[in-house]
Amino acid sequence: MNIFKNWTDEHTKTFGNDILTVSHNLAETGLFTDEALAILLDKHPSQKLDVCTMSHDKKLYPNKFRTGDFRDCDGKALIEAAKAGKIWINVREAMNIHPEYKAVLDNMYGEIALITGQPSFNARGSVLISSPAAKVPFHCDQTETILWHIRGKKRIYLYPPTQEFLPDNVYQSIITQDREDDIPYTEDMDKSARIFDLAPGEMISWQLNAPHRVDNQSYCVSVTTEYSTKESAFKNSIMYTDSILSQKFGIKSKWSEASLPEKYIKSFAGRLLRKLNLNQNDNGQDFVTFKIDTSAPDYIVDIEPFPRNF
Ligand SMILES: [Fe+2]
Repeated sequence: MNIFKNWTDEHTKTFGNDILTVSHNLAETGLFTDEALAILLDKHPSQKLDVCTMSHDKKLYPNKFRTGDFRDCDGKALIEAAKAGKIWINVREAMNIHPEYKAVLDNMYGEIALITGQPSFNARGSVLISSPAAKVPFHCDQTETILWHIRGKKRIYLYPPTQEFLPDNVYQSIITQDREDDIPYTEDMDKSARIFDLAPGEMISWQLNAPHRVDNQSYCVSVTTEYSTKESAFKNSIMYTDSILSQKFGIKSKWSEASLPEKYIKSFAGRLLRKLNLNQNDNGQDFVTFKIDTSAPDYIVDIEPFPRNF
């Protein structure tokens, strides 16, 4: 099956270097209907399922995700909650774990490699199911990311991957903490954003680490894929070293000002340090603060927070 409908040479030139949108036909697999998604949710391991809502209390981090307990609900109830409530469901690595989805992921990346000649490795794909009111906060991804929008309408804001929007020290802490990808955000940053209204069947990709946020306009189903390239692995190992230098020795480094030999040495050191896991910053505990309740007005009931254990 051909995944892309209108890929041109221009798309090949743009891919990874700038923002690109192109049509795809993932909906035709039949794997993203509500019925198929309910079956997927029922069989997906709970450790790899995130059901979140948005908080409103952090000024520089608007719409920060809160983690929810979904264990009282089956897949059908979760779909119902996503349609009517204020939730965002990430079926993490669904495209890798389940054979029928994995076959599609292999097709997607097979076609990209064939067209662009760019090999990718470690491609991971997740399925996102989200409410009309859902918003994804301002953040950046550590590896190359593609959003394959399938159903509904969503607006994505993409910002330049520069110091102004993504300072090195913020990126360094993202790299070392591994889980927390949010970045401080103020509304005036939107003046520099490029805004895209995604229709069903549109794929969008952007430059490595470009910060972005998403506002849903309706109930939405999408796939998000990420993969490493030499470029992202190189940058992340350097940023890891810079973060350790800054935390342990107070040495501040700037990615943009480092010479190539310096980058190679830091990259080597970073891969080594990561293996040694010198950085034992454990800010990463995930607290569950609400549960999905199908009898509540927006399907959300606040609970006494507890560390996630499912
Ligand atoms: Fe993202």
